[in-house]
Amino acid sequence: MSKTKKIHIVFVCLGNICRSPLGEGIFRHLVEKRGLSEYFHIDSAGTASYHTGERPDLGSIRAAAKHGVSLDGQYARQFTGEDLTRWDYIIAMDSSNHSNICKLGTTSGNIHLLREFDPEEPGDVPDPWAKGDDAFLETYAIIHRSCIGLLDHIIRVHYITD
Ligand code: 4NP
Repeated sequence: MSKTKKIHIVFVCLGNICRSPLGEGIFRHLVEKRGLSEYFHIDSAGTASYHTGERPDLGSIRAAAKHGVSLDGQYARQFTGEDLTRWDYIIAMDSSNHSNICKLGTTSGNIHLLREFDPEEPGDVPDPWAKGDDAFLETYAIIHRSCIGLLDHIIRVHYITD
């Protein structure tokens, strides 16, 4: 696969301060570890605008830092109709985010629930917002194992070799 045509992938939750920043940070970390950074453009967004411009929640920053993953440089933004045609992969954290994205129009890429790639069980990524550090660590673990499955899927589908 050509490195000049990057795969554009965006992780989407409600507020873009808890789950999707973890998706973005963890997926970027996995891609870097496998030496595949030049193949990807990675971002995150929220279907709501409540937290636009804010840094990720401290619970997400702490859970990520505990695993050596940085969320530096991330600021919340809203997912809009214009995003629908910008991304090859739109990865929703739960079925409510998924349906809110679909309501914006038709996407030119692939829209998935992240846990379609969870090797343990499908479903929604639980929202840890205001639930304490243990909830953030549980959410981290779900997103981490699902992102491994997602990256393996993309590598297979796009014949990516390092
Ligand atoms: P996130 O969590 O969607 O994972 O970023 C939430 C953050 C804030 C709110 C809801 C969920 N809120 O209602 O403000």
